[in-house]
Amino acid sequence: MNNNHMTLGEFIIDNQKHFKYSSGEFSRLINAIRLAAKAVNHEIRKAGLVDITGASGDINIQGETQQKLDVLANDLFKQTIINREIVCGIASEEEDDFVIVHGKNKANDNKYILLMDPLDGSSNIDVNVSVGTIFSIYRRVSPEGTPVTEEDFLQKGNQQVAAGYIAYGTSTMLVFTTGKGVNGFTLNPAIGTFYLSNPNMKFPDIGKIYSINEGNYVHFPKGVKEYLKYCQEEKENRPYTSRYIGSLVSDFHRNMIKGGIYIYPTSAIGPKGKLRLLYECNPMAFIAEQAGGKASDGYKRILDLKPTELHQRVPFFCGNTQMVEKTEEFMSKYPEDANY
Ligand code: AHG
Ligand code: MN
Ligand code: MN
Repeated sequence: MNNNHMTLGEFIIDNQKHFKYSSGEFSRLINAIRLAAKAVNHEIRKAGLVDITGASGDINIQGETQQKLDVLANDLFKQTIINREIVCGIASEEEDDFVIVHGKNKANDNKYILLMDPLDGSSNIDVNVSVGTIFSIYRRVSPEGTPVTEEDFLQKGNQQVAAGYIAYGTSTMLVFTTGKGVNGFTLNPAIGTFYLSNPNMKFPDIGKIYSINEGNYVHFPKGVKEYLKYCQEEKENRPYTSRYIGSLVSDFHRNMIKGGIYIYPTSAIGPKGKLRLLYECNPMAFIAEQAGGKASDGYKRILDLKPTELHQRVPFFCGNTQMVEKTEEFMSKYPEDANY
């Protein structure tokens, strides 16, 4: 079949045999994510018309104000997945602790766990700027048929079976990898179907965009400050272009297509960085590597970090391989604990 006409549903069926652990269970999970994505998309497209913008009045476990759509997206993904009994556990940026999913008869024989950032870039909701959803899938390590444990969620990113994101932008796209390249699907809103629009996505060889919240410059590590000066220098193919949306999904998506690097470093005020290893960095790192890019904490490969807690934060340097390597070169001039 011509790729341009292939739907996500057909792609899942066609590729089931290539998935790392070929089973109907995994295909059903991707199908459920597709369904939840459409439901969240429907809600987001109504924002502004109905009273779902703004803060919900609650604060999440990380002390951040929850937006109404944060809560709604979390509930929609959670319920869609739980109702189908296709995972044995879920961890979310918006939940204090992981959720144990029980089957009808209490025992749960499902193999997979889901981790998610249900709404990424939520500060952009009220101003009609793109937001996203990020998801990550692992096989459990605890025995099947028993309740999931924290250990199931604290696996290294290199154990991911699949990861992806949904970008709710000028169009809605679902981009994901199962470890065999990255494929992007665009929603045709008229008929509610995702079509394969971006097969085998790859970072271009040369990147020229850098994305960082430069307002925090004074608080950045020395290595990052020097890299930014390098980006702005008039030499070779520089100065680079600066683009920062403030939604990781959208910034990453643009950089993967056009060539660039996304940086959220540690800072004097956020010594561990801001982005969450399990819900944001690991899935994006997996996608980046599958698209020929790289993801680092400034010194080490993101996917090799051993998580110690669910809501752990890490510094994040992700994008074109040669750009990430350049940042590592600058960072390595200073020891990890004396980079300020
Ligand atoms: P979330 O909305 O899930 O909390 O994530 C926001 C993240 C990320 O998407 C974005 O790139 C970054 O925070 C923006 O942070 P600053 O406003 O500090 O630049
Ligand atoms: Mn986020
Ligand atoms: Mn979020």
